[in-house]
Amino acid sequence: MNFHILTLFPDMVLDGLHTSIIGRAVENGLISIEAIDIREYSTDKHRHVDDYPYGGGAGMVMQPMPICDAYDDLCDRIGKKPRVIYLTPQGTVFSQKIAEELAAEEELVFLCGHYEGVDERALELVATDYLSIGDYVLTGGELPAMVMIDCISRLVPGVLNNDVSAEFESFHDNLLEYPQYTRPEEYKGLRVPEVLLSGHHKNIDTWRREQSIKRTYERRPDLLKDAVLSKKEQEYLES
Ligand code: ADE
Repeated sequence: MNFHILTLFPDMVLDGLHTSIIGRAVENGLISIEAIDIREYSTDKHRHVDDYPYGGGAGMVMQPMPICDAYDDLCDRIGKKPRVIYLTPQGTVFSQKIAEELAAEEELVFLCGHYEGVDERALELVATDYLSIGDYVLTGGELPAMVMIDCISRLVPGVLNNDVSAEFESFHDNLLEYPQYTRPEEYKGLRVPEVLLSGHHKNIDTWRREQSIKRTYERRPDLLKDAVLSKKEQEYLES
């Protein structure tokens, strides 16, 4: 899977994405992450990439030429026209389901805006998807792009050590993950639940499932409407 990030701050995304699990995935050749500096495509002698908004108003707007030229150059280089995700609070809110859909792509482009935004014509010409990471406004698209790349990368086979772990975690089945414990058995008077020490796998599975349902009910009841629950579990929730 190859990620291409169109940005004015290449160091920010590269530094952030070359550590830990994602860094290892890059080293192992499972994914590649390239930052394309939009400023390199400026046609201006001062390397400007933004200008005042037509119609007036505060802030600057990123011009269409450097963005479109950077994208065209990439397409020529890789011989494909990949999907382009524009990061914006005006987009559809990113989710695990969207991550799963995007993980099936071979190439993905992330277009990071800054200032007051991007000239609408650049978006008309290159953007295929508009995605947000939540209902709040950041200073640019770099952090959202990093969030999405992290999330999509861990779905690429081989990126997580344990193949099954992406399946059995938060949002699998629309339920939150059960609580986890490690050694010691007792810490500051708090004991690991006995069932987890019992070695009885069926009881452990049952306990974990109950904990997932309980936690989802308490913290994210909105998720339960799409969760697949047995009749017994449904009754337990209603009691
Ligand atoms: N750019 C600025 N804020 C954003 C957000 N919440 N999601 C995606 N891109 C953004």
